[in-house]
Amino acid sequence: MTKSDKYQELYKTIESVISGESDQIANMANTAALLHEAFGFWWTGFYIIQDEQLVLGPFQGPVACTRIGFGKGVCGSSWERRETIVVPDVHKFPGHIACSSLSQSEIVVPMFHNGEIYAVLDIDSKDLATFDEVDKEWLEKIVRLL
Ligand code: SME
Repeated sequence: MTKSDKYQELYKTIESVISGESDQIANMANTAALLHEAFGFWWTGFYIIQDEQLVLGPFQGPVACTRIGFGKGVCGSSWERRETIVVPDVHKFPGHIACSSLSQSEIVVPMFHNGEIYAVLDIDSKDLATFDEVDKEWLEKIVRLL
């Protein structure tokens, strides 16, 4: 099964699990769990914009930093640029925030409501260069379900 096939199945599962539930935190929690389990990522979770900061939301994986400023780290940069950032090697990303020293690569996907960014999805891997255009495309699609 290719990565795309896996995402396609996962997309349908997430859609059915969150349909009928209007609570966004509950839906973020199940989405993080489904993504994390399906791919065996190191850390999978959401940061939600509150009081002009990114504040830790539902996640799976080890304990993480709770607040990230605008333009800080990969998450804050994705917020600032309003676009997905794929980082093949976090050690080469200036300003990367190391919540876990075991993270090697990362993807951060911004989330919008009516054109306004309100959260980001952040996924970390213990391997280098885990994420590519396929992850970007599918994760951008998945967050639009929320
Ligand atoms: N590495 C992120 C911080 C969040 S943790 O990875 C969960 C960053 O640089 O924004």
